[in-house]
Amino acid sequence: MIKVALIGCGKISRGHLNAFKTIDDAKIVAACDLAEANLKAVCDETGAAPYTDYKQMIKELANELDLAIITLPHGLHGEATCFCAEHGVDVFLEKPMGIDSDDCKRMIEACEKAGVMLWVGHLQKYMPHNVFVKSLIDSGELGELVSCSETRNCNYFSDDRPRWFLSKKMSGGGIMINLGAHALDKLKFFTGADVAEINGGVHIRDGYDCEDSGQAFVKMSNGVTAQLTLIGHTGAIYETVALYLTKGEIRINRDNSVEWCGVDGVFKKKECDKTPAMTYQIQDVIATIRNGSKKPVVDGAYGLDIVHAIKRLYGDEK
Ligand SMILES: NC(=O)c1ccc[n+]([C@@H]2O[C@H](COP(=O)([O-])OP(=O)(O)OC[C@H]3O[C@@H](n4cnc5c(N)ncnc54)[C@H](O)[C@@H]3O)[C@@H](O)[C@H]2O)c1
Repeated sequence: MIKVALIGCGKISRGHLNAFKTIDDAKIVAACDLAEANLKAVCDETGAAPYTDYKQMIKELANELDLAIITLPHGLHGEATCFCAEHGVDVFLEKPMGIDSDDCKRMIEACEKAGVMLWVGHLQKYMPHNVFVKSLIDSGELGELVSCSETRNCNYFSDDRPRWFLSKKMSGGGIMINLGAHALDKLKFFTGADVAEINGGVHIRDGYDCEDSGQAFVKMSNGVTAQLTLIGHTGAIYETVALYLTKGEIRINRDNSVEWCGVDGVFKKKECDKTPAMTYQIQDVIATIRNGSKKPVVDGAYGLDIVHAIKRLYGDEK
């Protein structure tokens, strides 16, 4: 049995719990949270041993654990990852990797030094509709990918958003580091390239130190360009992605259906598998632990590329 410790039992832990239900030979054996209700919900459902201090949990269980899943606020990712590394425990860390590039580099160094796996939870490549889009791009049927455009609107400052997301010290930034990280992950997956240049700007919300909206103009290292517009105000919730190729166009709709056309301009449509990406992601993470390769599909360098890009957009890094 593969034994897993969960550090952080907040909103996203629900997705991880659901993913574990699909795996027979892996179990969350211990969980930690400071919030009693969140901890109890996870432990009641999984039978995990409850902890309120993750350092105590890791110290006590290091020898029997195969993996720690870290789902803490961004500003706590670094300390928790380095602590797990120092105790020889492999890590799956939720995105975005950290609050700045130095934070990410410290994690990479600590995990390399300890010889533990560091897998960053960028999950766009596990979304069935993105897998279909990638296969369309790679088939060459629509020519070469030239440009991408993503526009997303959601109420980023809604009352149910945990407040730490809205404090830059703990979050690293607002909508761009949190949801923009998904957009850059998507771009990296579709292009197979890194972020070469990023420009644009963000709008800081009155009374806060992080942004509610932002626009980025991106050039990938293979020459593909992109524009990302993320708006965090009330109103219609939407997310649309368009990819422009030399012989056609692909659109991803909010319901995750995909439409595409060739030079004739006539669109075809496909409904895609609705299995949550987190299920495929965690199945892959556990398979990697099981086969002993410890080779993450999404490594620290990938996570760092995304954090560094967003920090450049903010003007915080060069
Ligand atoms: N992959 C995705 O699509 C996705 C979606 C949502 C969130 N996330 C990421 O998951 C992470 C967590 O986000 P969330 O929405 O679950 O936030 P959340 O606030 O709901 O959960 C964080 C949990 O950590 C706990 N916590 C805080 N400090 C702690 C400490 N010192 N020790 C133990 N527990 C502590 C909190 O009590 C809370 O329960 C973030 O990195 C976020 O960006 C990823």
